[in-house]
Amino acid sequence: MTDTLAADRAPVSVGVSVGAERLTRRMARGAAFLGSEVAILGGAMSWVSERNLVAAISNAGGFGVIACGAMTVDLLDREIAATKALTTKPFGVNLITMHPDLMDLIAVCGRHGVGHVVLAGGLPPKGSLEAIKATGAKVICFAPALSLAKKLIRSGVDALVVEGMEAGGHIGPVSTSVLAQEILPEVADQVPVFVAGGIGRGEAIAGYLDMGAAGVQLGTRFVCATESIAHANFKKAFIRASARDAVASVQIDPRLPVIPVRALKNAGGELFTAKQREVAQALDEGGVAMAEAQLQIEHYWAGALRRAVIDGDVEHGSVMAGQSVGMVTREEPVTAIIAELMAEAAAALDKRAA
Ligand SMILES: Cc1cc2nc3c(=O)[nH]c(=O)nc-3n(C[C@H](O)[C@H](O)[C@H](O)COP(=O)(O)O)c2cc1C
Repeated sequence: MTDTLAADRAPVSVGVSVGAERLTRRMARGAAFLGSEVAILGGAMSWVSERNLVAAISNAGGFGVIACGAMTVDLLDREIAATKALTTKPFGVNLITMHPDLMDLIAVCGRHGVGHVVLAGGLPPKGSLEAIKATGAKVICFAPALSLAKKLIRSGVDALVVEGMEAGGHIGPVSTSVLAQEILPEVADQVPVFVAGGIGRGEAIAGYLDMGAAGVQLGTRFVCATESIAHANFKKAFIRASARDAVASVQIDPRLPVIPVRALKNAGGELFTAKQREVAQALDEGGVAMAEAQLQIEHYWAGALRRAVIDGDVEHGSVMAGQSVGMVTREEPVTAIIAELMAEAAAALDKRAA
């Protein structure tokens, strides 16, 4: 038996305080839904959330999620198999709705008996929810607004993630605290809702659980886990950065749409602004057609996350990170990260009991 599988058995201990007991109770619904010990999802992060980190999170009692990103059907097939070799605990797979082979990716998840599929990147395309449910898996979708949360519930999703703009990666315009206030009171009794974006400590987890969340999803906080394969430069950049270094990409011309992404400031970001100016000027001067200009902007970051995460080019790659990056201060095992978050959450709930 490998060490990882042995670690499989270690229960998450938060002690026996009133706070710990309250925390277990508040997380019970989310944990039961996920089949995990604690209701903490490791948010899927392209290139970072592969077999090692995903298995480590599930083995530590949380719920790991593989980021399929742009993987081919074959690659996802292998990644799921490799993850299963590292853990006997449940984990999920995150699929991007605009992937051209979405239906085949769903079928691969089905063949492996993946219990939870997270659909990201927009509303689920026609037939995708039904296809996932037909495999016996539960469907989790992102709800960027209350109206969409209600629509998704009507269409049969099993759980929601509410993610605010503090998060790393692709973001919407509204903060986590506002989305949580708008959405939780309205829908938390209908489906489990997991809150994401900007969560760095357990006190925040306790707060969202008190508001009705079934659990939480964290990404940034797990990047520097010992088990994460992110390049040493990528981890170093996280450890050095403070909240204000994690900035949203800026669109400078209304004709050239930029999808907002939160990442650490670097030379690549500055060059992107210069590129937008250059393309906008070429458009003004008639030197480039609109479609070509928009493609140049869209393709600017192609491969940039991989360059940063895998190759360690943190100057010109995309160092996607959330504002909670300031609370990432060292490399440590996933078990330590989860234990710390749980202890902080329990202590916060303990104080409520006084
Ligand atoms: C490096 C990085 C890559 C990410 N890639 C994805 C992705 O491929 N799919 C997705 O749904 N979310 C992605 N996210 C978002 C995370 O799954 C998670 O929801 C988010 O990190 C939570 O907010 P936090 O960073 O404040 O903890 C990414 C986040 C980061 C930091």
